[in-house]
Amino acid sequence: MFKPVRKAIFPVGGLGTRFLPATKSMPKEMLPVVDKPLIQYAVEEAKAAGIEQFIFVTGRGKSAIEDHFDISYELQQTLTERQRQHELQMINSMLPEPGQVAYIRQQEPLGLGHAVWCARNLVGDEPVAILLADDLVLAEQPCLKQMVDAHVYTGGNMVAVMDVPREQTRRYGVLDVLRDDGKLAAVRGLVEKPMPEKAPSTLSIIGRYILLPEVFDYLGAAEHGAGNEIQLTDAMAKMIGRHPFHGLRFEGKRFDCGDKIGFFEAQVAFALARPDLAKDVKAILRAYAG
Ligand code: UTP
Repeated sequence: MFKPVRKAIFPVGGLGTRFLPATKSMPKEMLPVVDKPLIQYAVEEAKAAGIEQFIFVTGRGKSAIEDHFDISYELQQTLTERQRQHELQMINSMLPEPGQVAYIRQQEPLGLGHAVWCARNLVGDEPVAILLADDLVLAEQPCLKQMVDAHVYTGGNMVAVMDVPREQTRRYGVLDVLRDDGKLAAVRGLVEKPMPEKAPSTLSIIGRYILLPEVFDYLGAAEHGAGNEIQLTDAMAKMIGRHPFHGLRFEGKRFDCGDKIGFFEAQVAFALARPDLAKDVKAILRAYAG
């Protein structure tokens, strides 16, 4: 029996420079897709996968995220006075249980690997899920749930992967595949942002991981990788051969919401998936396309 995945890290310490000026004083993770901030999609996905403890690695200027998951007395009172039951129920239902959420500060944005490492003492000796809120997945079954279900059988480390066009491999961590049954790929190596001609495959990692606690040792010992940031991919690569390592081809569509075009596409896809909006959105799209 492998230890269950009970904890999740949400690294939200990045600067979000690709979304300036929107992200000058607002965290990128609070950008809404339709009417919900990116970070709330990620937290809901984690909840649906059975996660019980939520660890946010924040930075300066990110307090809006803490407020979002806290009680807002004035709003609650006003909604109560105005008998807005639906909205009241909505904001109450998204509140975590007391003690379920922890915030830890990444004092300097030294990269994703460093952000994850900052959470080491809160994770302890058990596997942990990591969700990057700017990678949004539209799926019938939430992406992390698909991973947790597969992890029950594989144990070890697991990343969510998708096939990308070869010319895009330089944007991703890419798998060197040992065996592949079409859904799960056993991994023998990882390459960070390879040029298309050097990429060992086109199976690319998106922002969903389940990692063993050993990753913290490798992150702690890391020399700085590409771009002078502590790279998560480097630490993960060091665990290959010591523990099982799999890529799961998740079912669903992923949107890179850290990028303007990906974010725009997500707005369209999520709005079209909403019964209350789909008709009007389709009409608008048709009018612009025509
Ligand atoms: P990105 O590579 O998207 O970087 O980080 P970024 O700073 O958020 O955005 P750009 O590139 O400047 O526009 C991927 C994930 O890692 C987190 C981010 O918050 C995001 O969820 N991250 C990144 C940190 O938590 N700390 C860091 O130092 C860097």
